[in-house]
Amino acid sequence: MSDRYQFLAHTPIGQFVVKNLGLPNPPTLERYAEGQPVVDGTVLVGAAPGGRIAEAAAATLEQLGVEVAESAAEGDRFKGLVFDASGIKTSADLVAVQEFFTPVVRSLRGCGRVVVLATPPELAADAGERVAQRALEGFTRSLGKEVGRGSTVQLVHVAPGAETAITSTLAFLLSPKSAYVSAQVVRIGATGTTQAEPLTDSAQPLSGKVALVTGASRGIGESIARTLARDGATVVGVDVPPMASELAALMTELGGESVTVDITSIDAPQRIAKHVADKHDGVDIVVHNAGITRDKKLANMKADGWRSTIAVNLTAPERITAELLEQKLVRDNGRIIGVASIAGIAGNLGQTNYGTSKAGVIGLVDALAPTLHNGVTVNAVAPGFIETQMTAKIPLVIREAGRRMNSLSQGGLPIDVAETIAWFASPASTAVNGNVVRVCGQSLLGA
Ligand SMILES: NC(=O)c1ccc[n+]([C@@H]2O[C@H](COP(=O)([O-])OP(=O)(O)OC[C@H]3O[C@@H](n4cnc5c(N)ncnc54)[C@H](O)[C@@H]3O)[C@@H](O)[C@H]2O)c1
Repeated sequence: MSDRYQFLAHTPIGQFVVKNLGLPNPPTLERYAEGQPVVDGTVLVGAAPGGRIAEAAAATLEQLGVEVAESAAEGDRFKGLVFDASGIKTSADLVAVQEFFTPVVRSLRGCGRVVVLATPPELAADAGERVAQRALEGFTRSLGKEVGRGSTVQLVHVAPGAETAITSTLAFLLSPKSAYVSAQVVRIGATGTTQAEPLTDSAQPLSGKVALVTGASRGIGESIARTLARDGATVVGVDVPPMASELAALMTELGGESVTVDITSIDAPQRIAKHVADKHDGVDIVVHNAGITRDKKLANMKADGWRSTIAVNLTAPERITAELLEQKLVRDNGRIIGVASIAGIAGNLGQTNYGTSKAGVIGLVDALAPTLHNGVTVNAVAPGFIETQMTAKIPLVIREAGRRMNSLSQGGLPIDVAETIAWFASPASTAVNGNVVRVCGQSLLGA
């Protein structure tokens, strides 16, 4: 979908008007192109005294082929700033964050990346450390609103013992693949295992894997299917009968397979399970992307609008997941990935049904994450405003507000959601379990 405002804001006259009227000035975000290095530039790595993660982080970056600096000289410019804050034990120690960032924050290049590594507050040794580690969330979310020029800031909670399981996460958060992800708190090793497989073939990390994607024929689902196929997976796309020809054309292009079924039909979980059992003896990645909106204020809500939204967005993912797990079809180191929404976090006018269904997807992650074994994980993305046919239907004024009300002053693209899902899907993301990561450009809603 086209964003005419962003186009006009980049013309010479548009720049003049934007500057003089103080209008939002959406930067052009860098996005990943095949064959690019993980980071196009140098990453400065620093630590508070006594930090336990910086060493592993520097080693990880070198393994990823990223140029690492341990100190900054006058005139240096950085594509990334990584700070290990795990040594911070008291609120007085928090000064270490200011001392590291203040001198270098201006040397961050456009579309730069800031990552703060920390201890999950609930795993802190005492109350003082818990307070100080929790405080870092306010720091990263505020810095996210300051960095500008397409840069992003994240907080990564690394459980003790999970220091060497951060590779796929650092690779994602430092690269252009995370273009529209900002001000997120990611947890590594806090639920399930603290260990992870190494990131071996970074061009095709999913080679040999089978990925089921519901709602695959258009919008975000199409982008997920294309991205997982790019990363080497065999994609099994699912969509409703009216979308059969679009689905078949895409799956033929990607060398994948189609299952044409309405996921709310009574036998859908069994049909999907039978397909992956017969053709592949199992499945590695399950992406519950299919979703619908039936917006109405609650006072005007019809029973069907409520029921169908809950059925597609929540009950179907629950039933399909349960069937695949029950039949032991999700292979070791498998991935279950939900698609929630910021409406499920912040709520949204006219979306009591949708917000309920999407908060339920987050509940599914919470409920399943501690119960999974053999390296299987469950996570969800919560997209903000993404440019698709779904959002093109929103009335103009609301649509324009939705696009601009975030730190990047623009809507995201389906590829931004797909790249986040590809990070969850990576075999090296075994310690990334129980997360809900917003792909929303640090939306002002429900921050
Ligand atoms: N676009 C956004 O801004 C946005 C924001 C937050 C969350 N999301 C979520 O992302 C997902 C994809 O959204 P989109 O914008 O690409 O939507 P879309 O309407 O463009 O695509 C949804 C796909 O799901 C399929 N589908 C719908 N009902 C189905 C059913 N019963 N059985 C099988 N397939 C079914 C549709 O045919 C379609 O191909 C949805 O879960 C949506 O709620 C989107």
